[in-house]
Amino acid sequence: MISFVGAGPGAADLITLRGAQRLAAADVVIWASSLVPAELLQHCRSDAAIHDSATMTLEDVLAVYAAHPDDTPIVRLHSGDPSLYGAIQEQVDWCATVGRTWEVVPGVSSVSAASAAAGRELTIPGVSQSVVVTRLAGRTSDSMPETEGVAAYAARGGTLAVLLSAARPDELQAELLGPGSAFRADTPAVVIVRATWPDEQVVHTTVGELAETVRSTGATMTALVLVGEALAARDDERRSHLYAPTYTTAYRLRSHAGSTAGRPSARRTGS
Ligand SMILES: C[S@@+](CC[C@H](N)C(=O)[O-])C[C@H]1O[C@@H](n2cnc3c(N)ncnc32)[C@H](O)[C@@H]1O
Repeated sequence: MISFVGAGPGAADLITLRGAQRLAAADVVIWASSLVPAELLQHCRSDAAIHDSATMTLEDVLAVYAAHPDDTPIVRLHSGDPSLYGAIQEQVDWCATVGRTWEVVPGVSSVSAASAAAGRELTIPGVSQSVVVTRLAGRTSDSMPETEGVAAYAARGGTLAVLLSAARPDELQAELLGPGSAFRADTPAVVIVRATWPDEQVVHTTVGELAETVRSTGATMTALVLVGEALAARDDERRSHLYAPTYTTAYRLRSHAGSTAGRPSARRTGS
């Protein structure tokens, strides 16, 4: 079985229990040292064969898989959650083609870790109810569908999480403030470098100051930018409907002034 495991954003205790169990059982581990801290390998057995994918091509990785029978427990450790820029699809497709058993074990994305580090929810009622995870086109510009550049999403507003773009801060700021953008120079932004790593940096700024702020962190990799009005500290007492006393749910009937009267006593409240 080949397990594509999300390592989480960096801290060794932010891998899921299932991910840690897969690492502990693995005979073979392929990990990305450029994106995943070495501390994550503490979950591996000391006799596991460890390969660093930082210097490997896809063909090299597939050759490691092919060298072992299907019942060998193999872990391919990807940063954050494998579903975002994880490059797992080509590996999953290979497994399907050659008849290998595989699974994906999800992980905590850097987007969630960055939001936690910034102390801001990304969806605030009446402000933003959508989050777009995107990137600048960059070196792999032919990967970027024409309608999906940062400028296209900036025109719509909401909350943007921009990954893989810290090396081109001027380009990022220019796309965020291009013609027709819903963002302004004073729109809040947060630069998060190495979220959950020991040297994590969190800098609250504005879109107008974004390029300078990114440069001031010194980061070009393992950094992301959150953009949008949801990132603003606010004192306007906005709150979600879900926990309002006047809002009913299948789990909580209408109540007044925070009273719990009417709530089904034997049922758990939703999250
Ligand atoms: C190849 S993508 C992988 C994303 C990953 N699958 C995820 O869910 O977070 C790498 C990019 O993710 C972002 N990233 C990953 N880990 C991060 C962290 N701990 N702090 C900030 N950004 C991070 C950076 O933008 C980096 O360039």
